[in-house]
Amino acid sequence: MLYTIAYISRAADHLSTQDIQELLQYSSRSNVSSNINGLLLFNEGNFFQVLEGDRLAVESLYNKIKEDSRHDSLVELFHERTVDPVFKEYSSQFNLISTEYDVIVIKEYLKRRKKTAVKPGMVHQIESFLGLE
Ligand SMILES: Cc1cc2nc3c(=O)[nH]c(=O)nc-3n(C[C@H](O)[C@H](O)[C@H](O)COP(=O)(O)O)c2cc1C
Repeated sequence: MLYTIAYISRAADHLSTQDIQELLQYSSRSNVSSNINGLLLFNEGNFFQVLEGDRLAVESLYNKIKEDSRHDSLVELFHERTVDPVFKEYSSQFNLISTEYDVIVIKEYLKRRKKTAVKPGMVHQIESFLGLE
């Protein structure tokens, strides 16, 4: 069963630019080898991550990520079954949404989640957080 999880979190103060670069590279390599798609973005002290893939794989990774001391104040945005995954690959970037592909897939991802968003206006908030408006 395919699942998706998305969250926003705050990077720990002690993280250097190099630490973040290494984390982005690590997550790309590791997710490609475990067939998890999505993306991890870092911008102005915040992370935004989307994970899509087999439920067990995605949830066990997410449980590890939640415990990771390199970030805190994690806010879960979506955690649900998906029948039509949007991400065809995994990408990680230091600058917020620098490719057209990211813009297209994130918009599509959020469009499909509009119905399941817990709070009204949440999708809009995420779009504005990501500068997608
Ligand atoms: C913001 C953030 C995002 C992360 N994303 C991933 C990820 O997508 N894939 C991954 O394997 N590890 C990711 N990690 C690292 C995991 O928390 C963990 O350190 C890693 O999976 C290694 O765990 P292990 O040594 O228990 O296997 C992330 C960590 C943080 C702080």
